[in-house]
Amino acid sequence: MFDLKSYFKDKNRQINVALEKILQDSHPSEPIIEAMKYSLMAGGKRIRPVLCLAAAEAVGGKQQDVMPAACALEIVHTYSLIHDDLPAMDNDDLRRGKPTCHIAFDEATAILAGDALLTLAFQVLSSVQLTEENQAVDWINVIRIISTAAGYQGMIQGQMLDMVSEGRTLTVDELKSMHGLKTGALIEAALLCGALLGGATTTQTEVLKTYGQNIGLAFQVADDILNVEGNPEIMGKATGTDELRKKSTYPAILGLEASRHLAKNLVDTALQALEIFDKRADPLRVVAVYIIERKR
Ligand code: IPE
Ligand code: IPE
Ligand code: MG
Ligand code: MG
Repeated sequence: MFDLKSYFKDKNRQINVALEKILQDSHPSEPIIEAMKYSLMAGGKRIRPVLCLAAAEAVGGKQQDVMPAACALEIVHTYSLIHDDLPAMDNDDLRRGKPTCHIAFDEATAILAGDALLTLAFQVLSSVQLTEENQAVDWINVIRIISTAAGYQGMIQGQMLDMVSEGRTLTVDELKSMHGLKTGALIEAALLCGALLGGATTTQTEVLKTYGQNIGLAFQVADDILNVEGNPEIMGKATGTDELRKKSTYPAILGLEASRHLAKNLVDTALQALEIFDKRADPLRVVAVYIIERKR
């Protein structure tokens, strides 16, 4: 029987070793590196890199070939959290169970640590050791996938919509689009990178994309639900803040019950898509369910 807890533990250990290694060449006493490391190693769930590795696994790829992409995804995600928490954005004090970067350091350092992490991700992706199996063209495609998902056509657009939607009531379609962009895009990118580097066929890639889009949206619906009814101690971040800031969220627009129902339907759709895969996709199956059942 597949055990998610030990799978996560094992993958997280390997991801953390790889992330430490990326930062190890630098001088840890420099304040900018200290701030980058502080947020990156603060204890995130590592869902995006795990999804990237699991997608590659599902199509028979090798983990070591995918790890730089997995790390880059987590580095981009961490940058997005540092900036998301800034006073000009969500103005949050707690993240991953610790004071946010701008509280632990200062605002200027947090802005720069975010900038430094975002650029570091692409430094990592463009510094991969090339071999016969590890070809430049694949990494150019990974860079295209991640930069598109993180940029103005993806996460940044979603974050902009989130900001301008404060105090407004979005339609369900607008909400879906905003959540798909601010959170779904990078999650979908994680699956697409795993597929590409794992050597997926066109059909497998399409399936992983569908899976990614559905769990990506479900992930943000679950985040919205947790912001209403989660335990801040377990989550390592504050709750009740979406209502306070008049954010457009699924619970605010549909109510909690309908939001839970929607999240479940999205996960069911993702699971159905995976039917073409054998048991090598079991980690993806279990992670999909975890995404809506998680407490943090
Ligand atoms: C939180 O992401 C922000 C969203 C995009 C919803 P995670 O819930 O993956 O946060 P960490 O990485 O575990 O801290
Ligand atoms: C975070 O969304 C999305 C990104 C960082 C891109 P939220 O603002 O809803 O997430 P939390 O609740 O602060 O983690
Ligand atoms: Mg936000
Ligand atoms: Mg936030």
